[in-house]
Amino acid sequence: EKQGFKHYMLKEIYEQPGVVRTCLEDYLRADWDGDSPFSPVQLPLDPSLLENLQHIQIVACGTSWHAGLVGKYLLEQVAQIPTSVQYASEFRYAPPPLLPNTLTIGVTQSGETADTLAALEMELKRRQGLEGALQPRLLGITNRPESSLGHLVPHIIDTRAGIEIGVAATKTFVAQLMAFYLLTLELAWQRQSCDRPRLAELVTGLRQLPAQMEQILESQERYIEALSHDFAETQDFIFLGRGINFPIALEGALKLKEISYIHAEGYPAGEMKHGPIALLDAKVPVVTIAMPGSVFEKVLSNAQEARARDARLIGVTPLDEAEAQHTFDNLLPVPEVDELLSPILTVMPLQLLAYHIAARRGLDVDQPRNLAKSVTVE
Ligand code: F6R
Repeated sequence: EKQGFKHYMLKEIYEQPGVVRTCLEDYLRADWDGDSPFSPVQLPLDPSLLENLQHIQIVACGTSWHAGLVGKYLLEQVAQIPTSVQYASEFRYAPPPLLPNTLTIGVTQSGETADTLAALEMELKRRQGLEGALQPRLLGITNRPESSLGHLVPHIIDTRAGIEIGVAATKTFVAQLMAFYLLTLELAWQRQSCDRPRLAELVTGLRQLPAQMEQILESQERYIEALSHDFAETQDFIFLGRGINFPIALEGALKLKEISYIHAEGYPAGEMKHGPIALLDAKVPVVTIAMPGSVFEKVLSNAQEARARDARLIGVTPLDEAEAQHTFDNLLPVPEVDELLSPILTVMPLQLLAYHIAARRGLDVDQPRNLAKSVTVE
């Protein structure tokens, strides 16, 4: 069952390039190029679901909420649609005022999370009749279309990740990100919010991801396993990112907490100086995602500020050792890639780091204490 892997989590981390490949095969048109008169995306969605949207709201919990944050970045920056992301557990008791022309997206790996289902059910009820003959516009993103979510919500994007066994979500997260890339490209196409050459660049970049993911697995696993030995006594970790990689900092911290029981926090790197920097000393490693793009120089200078407080800096970055020597003590290299697509790559070293630290501590990686794969109670 585990096909030679010590844990399901590691097996599922290795399945990620294949999951992305399947998503691309199923939902991206192979015959599309920048001159095609049709959309690059072929999602099985009713066209009325996406017409004239003025607002998108995303509800989810945990790792799926992190995928929603990446989705918001894409939907706002590429498709130009104002988007909010809410914890389902908060949304259901304090729903925002109703706006017309809204698409509500529920994201859930299990399709059974009680808070997410309740938030969507409430939204369905409060929106009945609001837009005349139009049914409330609800979309589910899940790898379990046969789940309760699939019964509740009329439109589903099946992320094609299949069933995940490890309690810590890995391949299902990457697959949720893929659903947001595809949805964003479809909306950008329909609304012409993004010019053709840029759209073509993103499509080409998506097609290159599986090979780049394989490259990360091949080149880094051993190094990260060895590095994890250094953290046998570590009690706190900080994860920093900015822009589209801020949610990945949150996700890196959550993975580490869940399976290694080490205290970890993710912050937008620019917020460090507003308080959290007081936590830093030589005992607190700071993992920083620094990818070329709109916030590259800013993140590097945030990392240098942390290093000046004696923290050990670990960089998730394409910089080589010479380039990084004034900023990072250790490198978790990822290929240089379009900034917008980088979360799919930057999350992988963080998953491996969490995995190896927990495995090294002899913990039950697939069944961490106090956690369940489906959270079916409130
Ligand atoms: C993290 C994790 C949890 C889930 C959360 C939502 O690894 O597994 O944080 O992401 O419980 O679960 P789903 O996606 O099933 O709604």
